[in-house]
Amino acid sequence: MDIGSTQERGQWGSKLGFIMAAAGSAVGLGNLWKFPFLAGQNGGGAFVLVYLVLLLLIGFTLMMAEITIGRFTGLNAIGAYRKIKASWAWVGSLGVLAGFLILSFYSVIGGWIIAYIVKAATGTFNTADTKMLGDMFTNFIQSSGTPIFYHGLFMLMTLGIVIGGIQQGIEKYSKILMPALFGMMALVVLRSVTLDGAMEGIKFFITPDFSKITGGVILAALGQVFFSLSLGMGCMITYGSYLSKDTNIPECSLIIPLIDTGVAVMAGFAIIPAAMAFNFPVDAGPSLLFITLPAVFSKMPLGGLMGVIFFVLALFAAVTSSISLLEVCVSYVVDEWNWTRKKATLIISGLIFAAGIPCSLSQGPWSHIKLIKGKGILDSVDFVASNVLLPLGGILLCVFIGWVWGLRRIQHIRKTEEGETIITWELEYTDALKEATNDGKVNFPMATIWVFLIKWLAPVAITIVFFQGVFS
Ligand code: PHE
Repeated sequence: MDIGSTQERGQWGSKLGFIMAAAGSAVGLGNLWKFPFLAGQNGGGAFVLVYLVLLLLIGFTLMMAEITIGRFTGLNAIGAYRKIKASWAWVGSLGVLAGFLILSFYSVIGGWIIAYIVKAATGTFNTADTKMLGDMFTNFIQSSGTPIFYHGLFMLMTLGIVIGGIQQGIEKYSKILMPALFGMMALVVLRSVTLDGAMEGIKFFITPDFSKITGGVILAALGQVFFSLSLGMGCMITYGSYLSKDTNIPECSLIIPLIDTGVAVMAGFAIIPAAMAFNFPVDAGPSLLFITLPAVFSKMPLGGLMGVIFFVLALFAAVTSSISLLEVCVSYVVDEWNWTRKKATLIISGLIFAAGIPCSLSQGPWSHIKLIKGKGILDSVDFVASNVLLPLGGILLCVFIGWVWGLRRIQHIRKTEEGETIITWELEYTDALKEATNDGKVNFPMATIWVFLIKWLAPVAITIVFFQGVFS
């Protein structure tokens, strides 16, 4: 079965299959690589706290919204918007642009992961000397050819899977490899937090220093909620379109963010205490994972092997995310422009590969080029996609589902025998709410809260954070 094909739309084999696939999209470099470095750059515990609050209020709400629209329409993002209200189809295209941009730099980092599998396998980083590991990393990403070669390799892997249609593969492998990733992470966390000097890092990661919370920190956390949960660009709409009608959507919408956050927090515990223990600056940014983890592995029994296993699992997590990014773009072109799946996949992958090249070069020869807020090319693309396009897609999604498609409460006015007026409110089961609750069969005590969050709190909060962060 092909995700995205309109003729033969299949379904996930089981609820577990869907959760694993959606979690596969969610869990990726966003958790392992980005979350720890953002936490390190944005005040540690302060960032984690803001992240968790936004996750609960906005992540869960939008996850449920996307899955609901997807299952209701059985279509990809653009088709879904169009089916409910044709004039909104352009919101779906915005998601395609976000997917394109994200994948162009995601694949560069994915390439770094492949390179590190090779480095681990050949025993190159058998040291805890972060100075040496840092030099090794810098030399690698600053060179022109090699990272681009690995970026191409990562794109080839992604493309290979997407051409073949993605469901069967993802379901089968995710069920084994996701738990394996959890297990492996647990071992690394255990080693990291027991290193001499790790305590300081643990404190930094879990103690929120409220003075560190600024507009920029909140926007970074918001962007990360969207990025990490694959929200705001219609990815979960597509995945939801393959969900069977009897699956409990509210339950899935809680479990997926829970798994995702579990992995992100574990990655934080694996990386930040180690950075402190090895005297490496936690605010070093994108290099954090690639310098601290090899140092941790060098302190583990069978460290070389552990390193290989970890980076292989990280690659798997990255690929299950990158295929969902590519899929959003491919299914758009297949459905809208009537291209064949093969042609669409090959051409789009080629374009994304090309767009990734400047991102890769911006780490070395092109590092002097600054685009937005003094950021280099890769960071600027990330900023525009994650902190602008995804939240924008999120606001539009809220308005669409809450106001255009419609979620309403109806007022009942009753007079008692004593002549008192009693006003009660009841949710009207419009299509959106019917779909989200399986025609009211799913006991969903939070329905009222969800309706409030999606109509008011989420869009208002995202808008405020967005303007504060982008224009400050
Ligand atoms: N959620 C993925 C990650 O954390 C990245 C992603 C973003 C995937 C948006 C799909 C859509 O790595």
